[in-house]
Amino acid sequence: MSSTVRPAAGISDPRLSGRAVRRIAFDEAAIARRVRELGGEISAAYPDGDLLVLGLLKGSFIFLSDLVRQIHRPLQVDFLVASSYGDGMVSSGTVRLVYDPETQLEGKDILLVEDIVDSGRTLNRLIDLLVERRPRSLEICALLHKRIANGLKHDTKFVGFDAPHEFLVGYGLDHAENFRHLPYIASLQ
Ligand code: PRP
Repeated sequence: MSSTVRPAAGISDPRLSGRAVRRIAFDEAAIARRVRELGGEISAAYPDGDLLVLGLLKGSFIFLSDLVRQIHRPLQVDFLVASSYGDGMVSSGTVRLVYDPETQLEGKDILLVEDIVDSGRTLNRLIDLLVERRPRSLEICALLHKRIANGLKHDTKFVGFDAPHEFLVGYGLDHAENFRHLPYIASLQ
């Protein structure tokens, strides 16, 4: 079976540990098309300067690897791993970088790559941290945006798709660390 097999709704996929797809929100072809377009938009938006594409792990790993291959200008890649404390903890809004990019951010155009903007909490916390590093510019590229976040401190300049209000897995998105490797984005039954 090749990885390009697209399971119909209700049909099980051997990658799904017995779960079944309820609905494919975005299939491989639609994702590839949109990623190509995003690459074009990003290439045009940065005619000069040092561009550093920063992927927020783990969710962005597949999107980022496809996206950078569609950006036709020089760039560097690094990653961030963030750990946020739960809402119940004091000073909610605290985020700690578990992996801090080694690359210097000062003076660079930073493109932060996310798989999905949901409540927006993750981004709001990270933006503050990144701004402290004095980049030349800071923009966000998210594959999916639920458009439900209130009080986002920073626009998401590049968005792949408006996301349906369903729990989505695949193409980097997980449920309890599973299903990140699906080549499509789906909700499960
Ligand atoms: C998920 C997702 C985004 C974030 C979005 O990350 O990858 O980073 O949540 O949610 P928000 O807008 O409500 O903050 P998660 O913490 O599950 O880690 P992961 O990337 O390792 O899956």
